[in-house]
Amino acid sequence: MIEDKTAWIEAEIASLREQGLFAHIRTLSSPQGAWLVVDGQRVLNFSSNNYLGLANHPRLVEAAKRAMDTHGVGPAAVRSIAGTMDLHLELEERLARFKGVEAAVTFQSGFMANLATIPALVGRGDVIFSDRLNHASIIDGCRLSRAQVVAYEHNDPDDLRQQIAATTEYRRRLIVTDGVFSMDGDIAPLPEIAQIASEHGILLMVDDAHGEGVLGRGGRGIVDHFGLHGQVDVEIGTLSKAFGVVGGVVAGNKVIADWLRQRGRPFLFSSAMAVPDIAANIAAVDLLEESTELVDRLWRNAEYFKQQMQSLGFDTGETQTPIVPVMLGEAPLAQQFSRRMFEEGVFVMALGFPTVPLGKARLRVMNSATHSRDDLDKTLESFARVGRELGVIV
Ligand SMILES: Cc1ncc(COP(=O)(O)O)c(C=O)c1O
Repeated sequence: MIEDKTAWIEAEIASLREQGLFAHIRTLSSPQGAWLVVDGQRVLNFSSNNYLGLANHPRLVEAAKRAMDTHGVGPAAVRSIAGTMDLHLELEERLARFKGVEAAVTFQSGFMANLATIPALVGRGDVIFSDRLNHASIIDGCRLSRAQVVAYEHNDPDDLRQQIAATTEYRRRLIVTDGVFSMDGDIAPLPEIAQIASEHGILLMVDDAHGEGVLGRGGRGIVDHFGLHGQVDVEIGTLSKAFGVVGGVVAGNKVIADWLRQRGRPFLFSSAMAVPDIAANIAAVDLLEESTELVDRLWRNAEYFKQQMQSLGFDTGETQTPIVPVMLGEAPLAQQFSRRMFEEGVFVMALGFPTVPLGKARLRVMNSATHSRDDLDKTLESFARVGRELGVIV
């Protein structure tokens, strides 16, 4: 008998479907914006990380087109061999200036930035103190480093202190945390963590994927939000969310940037960001430096939406940012809620295990500067209707 080598995968997928955990991936046939065409239907969009509406901003689109006229499309090599263009360097200088740090290095994505940075800073014999709810790319970066990983309780500086005190065998140490936790929208207590890192002389790294372009003055990120300039060694950012394009960035001291250009494996062994992406990212920095209007509008929308949802009786968890979780508990209920919202013309994703813990399924509402007050009110009406129909609110 010939063994069916993939039968186990079919069984796993069937089990995911039974548990309501199978991710149905929808197809978009329009640019990103407040409204999308999803699976052929025009719907209001509350699922993207397009916080500022830059993903289809005319200035970014124009910059990408112009750059392709002068630089072509692809980098055609990894950066250390023949793939670093003047545009990459310009973007890095602009990002460093925007964030008020000595230097910045860009990567193909935020995920890659974490995979590059953590193993370049720590290795066998070292210890990483990592928030229990850190993003998958941090977890994978930690695994790749081969350092010992000590998870501390989520956003709990006291537990971090205890874990540090209990870990006496090490060569070097690193503390790593998400800045904004993308499933709950809560913010890391960075001032306390920075204090602990400084007392113990431990390197501190924050992944600000959801804070870049959102937190701080004009979107300068979590370090700026807390006024911690010079107290955080490494800031990871992504250019795929508020910046509206794609790419990752590591910002900090020049020595760390220099080291990543020598030892960051995705820098050395994977081709660089493409020309239109780099040019569009430079245009995004231009826009953020020119005005805080988009960031201000994002926060106004988010505050309005959150308040209205809470007064309808929904549980919006611990959010402190434009990410608004609508806590529902079991995954099948979250999926049913999301399907009904789609029928109402609102695209909002259900998240279940393993993206969030079992029993903590939710809808995640991503607010954006692109939404008008009418868009928000229409969505709130749909939430009220579906919430009552499914017995989530009274
Ligand atoms: C905290 C965090 N880090 C990294 C990433 C990955 O970013 P990118 O999409 O640029 O790879 C994300 C995106 O989901 C994130 O939320």
